[in-house]
Amino acid sequence: MMDDIRRIAADAQSRIAGAATLEELAELDRSNLGKGSELGGFKRQMGALDPDERRTVGAALNEARRAVEAAVAARRAELDAAAARERAAAERLDLTEVRAGRDAGHLHLVTQTIEELEDVFVGLGFTVEEGPEVEDDWHNFTALNFGEHHPARDMQDTFFVDLGAEREVVMRTHTSPVQIRVMEDREPPIYSVMPGRVYRNEATDATHLAVFHQIECLVVDRGITFGHLAGTIDAFTKAYFGDAWNTRLRPAYFPFTEPSAEFDVQRPDGSWLELGGSGMVHPNVLANCGIDPEEHSGFAFGFGLDRLAATKHGVTDIREFASTDIRFLEQF
Ligand code: DAH
Repeated sequence: MMDDIRRIAADAQSRIAGAATLEELAELDRSNLGKGSELGGFKRQMGALDPDERRTVGAALNEARRAVEAAVAARRAELDAAAARERAAAERLDLTEVRAGRDAGHLHLVTQTIEELEDVFVGLGFTVEEGPEVEDDWHNFTALNFGEHHPARDMQDTFFVDLGAEREVVMRTHTSPVQIRVMEDREPPIYSVMPGRVYRNEATDATHLAVFHQIECLVVDRGITFGHLAGTIDAFTKAYFGDAWNTRLRPAYFPFTEPSAEFDVQRPDGSWLELGGSGMVHPNVLANCGIDPEEHSGFAFGFGLDRLAATKHGVTDIREFASTDIRFLEQF
């Protein structure tokens, strides 16, 4: 009987170790340890044994059960681990994957546009300057000749930063404050462009973003006229869009230029796109930066880059520029 018990237990253990699936293992567990199993059968025969034999056989049966139970637990752990490995392999994402035949990434269309425009202006003899996105009231408004109650200072348009005196620090609402920084730092002649990110506290829609990009152009020299302004706008438009594009200026008001004009670009199909603002730098602005308006004059213009890029590339909703959707981004 003892030999039978050991043989049956050993046999069960080897079949359990070979179970290929959790279902097969559950079946072996049931048939070797459950009711009606061979080991269970010995228990029923024990009543016929004398007490000494019963103790020996009982101990051997307990040991056999424990060994078979341990074999089941060990195999279950192995099968569980294998299943977890399989799941992990099936769900694996290779974040370092590079798609065959493509670069791993490229510059955003807005960045490409900034670089293209910089190239155009550098070709015309301009330098490229940058300024901070967090500005003070002086550079963003006051030095640009904004009256104290000018509506552009209103909460509607400006994100104020909770720093220093009330309404003293702002997220710059345009790139024009970089004009001030350049004029404060440098002596004329100045021929510079200043691209960058700007912020407006307004609702977004297909043609407006709260965070967008502008490029500013500033020229200060002796004898600068409105003709230089018109010619420069036309030259960069043709260089960026092509010779079939034209430009026009319309009277407008900006506190920091006098006279001021809005400028439009004309598509080859004859339709017009309003692009930006421009004008002759206001004498007060030159004086605010320590430049003598009797000696020097200048022009400036500025416009939105997102809208420019959208026009050139047929993007109908500029909110796409703020999206991370790879299907949009990889087109450019
Ligand atoms: N800063 C103006 C804006 O954001 C645009 C602008 C107008 C820039 C006239 C200029 C300028 O340099 O001369 O609406």
